[in-house]
Amino acid sequence: MPLLTLHQPNPPSPATRHAPASARGRAGSPGSTPKARVEGLACFGGTPCFDRPVSTSNLVRPDVERFLAYSKRFHEARRYTNDGPLVKELETRLARFHGSRHCIATSNGFWALVLAMRCMARPAREEVVMPSLTYRRMADIVAWAGLVPRFCEVDADTLAISPATATEHVGDATALLLAVHPVVNCCDAPGLEVLARKAGVPLLFDAVESAYETVGGRKVGSFGDAECFSMHASKLINGFEGGYVTTSDDALAARLRCMRGFGFQGHDNTIEAGLNAKLNEVHAAMALASLDDLEDQVLRNRGRYRCYQRELARIPGLRLLRFDEREQTSFKNIVVELTPAWPLSRARTLEILNAEGALARAYYHPPLHARPASYRTFAEALPLTDELSNRFMLLPCGHHVTEDDVVTVCGLLAFVRRHAGAIRSRLA
Ligand SMILES: Cc1ncc(COP(=O)(O)O)c(C=O)c1O
Repeated sequence: MPLLTLHQPNPPSPATRHAPASARGRAGSPGSTPKARVEGLACFGGTPCFDRPVSTSNLVRPDVERFLAYSKRFHEARRYTNDGPLVKELETRLARFHGSRHCIATSNGFWALVLAMRCMARPAREEVVMPSLTYRRMADIVAWAGLVPRFCEVDADTLAISPATATEHVGDATALLLAVHPVVNCCDAPGLEVLARKAGVPLLFDAVESAYETVGGRKVGSFGDAECFSMHASKLINGFEGGYVTTSDDALAARLRCMRGFGFQGHDNTIEAGLNAKLNEVHAAMALASLDDLEDQVLRNRGRYRCYQRELARIPGLRLLRFDEREQTSFKNIVVELTPAWPLSRARTLEILNAEGALARAYYHPPLHARPASYRTFAEALPLTDELSNRFMLLPCGHHVTEDDVVTVCGLLAFVRRHAGAIRSRLA
């Protein structure tokens, strides 16, 4: 079935639906300041702006009838798991979507990464060169793969590992180079390919946050030796849970398939110490329904992003990270930098927003090299990472965040900025 050709009637877009503020427990109308007085802030005992918290999780909600129609297929065929027809269809569509020869679906992104690392690591080497400013469980994943993280800096502009930040860490002990795409835009994937090739080390991308993107017009999913993705409900493609690996390496693909299913080859013939990391049919049904909705989702995301662009442009001290619109991009995540002109600490700002039900979050804080770990890591001082990890926050986004919500969040931020002095005194 061709990818993204099925068109469903979508419910009114949550990004553009403007529910009446009063019905949703808001103080003030869309576009207005949501608070009249500093004492009215929820952190000081006032009524929260949001009666239903708005978060940074995507929770995209494809058409339920479409999900049920896919589900009916596996139910009627009585195929629930073990390489069922929907998993196969999903793998075919995703491989085509990413421009890679193979897609191997897994139970989640975590095991996709562990499997890929175990299959790809150069033998008799243990170090994985990776950024420290990244997903909070990434070092655990490396440890589960039996390898040792070696943390490196990120580029100050992209917030991503780059050839320049990785190169001094790549050497005789390097088993694998793990490049993680940041939350907004992508890392220099072609540059990292050159570095990996020169150094003779395998290159794996964590592309969990970049499923829709292109780099230089080339689809993410087609770079390096392999790329890993998540289909957790918070991600662009919602399979409730789920993950996958893309690769154009036939031997690697065959090994990953074998390893995700206990290491079986044929009936009851175990050729490797594998895992049970298979994706089941109901998750594949949800992921397929979500794929059908993907182009519409990107339009909704763009609507929210444009609204943030408009609203944040009026608030000094906050800098929205812009999507690179020369590339294909999902507009999914909203990240802002708190510049020196912002009058409160990030921790205080988050406290205020969270109390209002706007579940903004610190961007990758603390970084991995500063977290206690029960396994070995190699970490030198990473001053840039330390500094960057204190400067950014993620603002509410995703399927359940309306443009009214965006206006309210930004109204709150503008209010906080205007009254920072009074807020600080009261907090003191
Ligand atoms: C960058 C990144 N890598 C990997 C994962 C793990 O994916 P999963 O939750 O499917 O195990 C996540 C999950 O949030 C992530 O953000």
